[in-house]
Amino acid sequence: MKALLLAGGLGTRLRPLTEQLPKPMALVGNVPWLEHLILQLRDQGIREFVLALKHYPELIRRHLGNGSKYGVSIEYVVEQDALGTAGAIKNAEAHLGETFLVFNADIIQTMEIHPMLDYHYSRGAQVTIGLTEVDDPSAFGVVDCTDSGQVRRFIEKPKRGEAVSNRINAGIYIMNKAALRYIPEGREVSIERETFPLLIHQGIGVYGYTMKGYWMDMGTRERYRQVHRDLLDRKLDLRLPGTETEPGIRMGKGCHIGQAVRLIAPVLIGDHVRIEDHAVIGPYTILGEHCHIARGAQLAETILWNRSSVKDNAKLNQCVCGYDSLIESRHILYEAFAQRMKEEAVVG
Ligand code: GTP
Repeated sequence: MKALLLAGGLGTRLRPLTEQLPKPMALVGNVPWLEHLILQLRDQGIREFVLALKHYPELIRRHLGNGSKYGVSIEYVVEQDALGTAGAIKNAEAHLGETFLVFNADIIQTMEIHPMLDYHYSRGAQVTIGLTEVDDPSAFGVVDCTDSGQVRRFIEKPKRGEAVSNRINAGIYIMNKAALRYIPEGREVSIERETFPLLIHQGIGVYGYTMKGYWMDMGTRERYRQVHRDLLDRKLDLRLPGTETEPGIRMGKGCHIGQAVRLIAPVLIGDHVRIEDHAVIGPYTILGEHCHIARGAQLAETILWNRSSVKDNAKLNQCVCGYDSLIESRHILYEAFAQRMKEEAVVG
């Protein structure tokens, strides 16, 4: 069974982090999310991947290669122009089997795939849409199903308290190739707005299956930070680099921790990080590889990507800083979302 990962979106809501980076390559616990996704699907027995790309495809190719280092195979399909979530599937048709999986690669999730596959086959579905239950569906598209599980309609962003259900499209699909006949070629097509409504209208078997497990769309700043709170609270169970040196403190190799440094759990520190004397790190703070925290700096609920540097006595609270960020001495930042631009984006 092949899995098609849709990873070609512009990620506009997560700018500037995604200005020069595909959103699915955003770090989650110091590892690009796409890598986590491939590893956890591999652990569920999926070994063949097709990646549909558009925005900075080379960064993804360079990082993942042909997949052999993860024990999987990866093929790439790169779009000239963005084709949208359904157009990208149609464009990859030649690489897909009779039944295949599709994932929005920017959804952070640890859902089990096999029960959904059993469901797809048992219903004789053409398309099964993975659903997830959320407390407040008003920011999403709600999916209304019949008692037998067939999708009746989609309701975009219902008013708070007026939704017919709290089940939303999880961005995970099982599709039969026959359903691709309904996607026009060579133009932008949205699966949510165009293809699924058309299939339902035509009476093609579209079913909804409620999945269990962690689910979060990382597409906005607030949700990106929430993913990390959940990760450090272990509500989101992903493999994390480093080793736990004391409860809630995870550290990579080759780190230097100065005198009178306070690490307040939970904290994740990447390889080769230097933290100078009297700095205070945590809680809910993540430092990427090769970061440098100068004397007396204080970071709380903050995420720094690799090679970032915080000068002496700077204070960061609830910030996210992309690769190679530089925070000057004594600067005080609250809820900053920053990315230092370089000539060429570098991942890792
Ligand atoms: P925003 O601009 O912030 O809305 O982000 P986005 O467009 O990247 O995300 P959206 O939620 O619209 O897309 C869902 C998933 O489909 C993401 O994993 C995207 O990378 C992917 N995607 C969206 N549009 C395209 C496209 O035109 N081609 C391909 N290959 N993937 C796409």
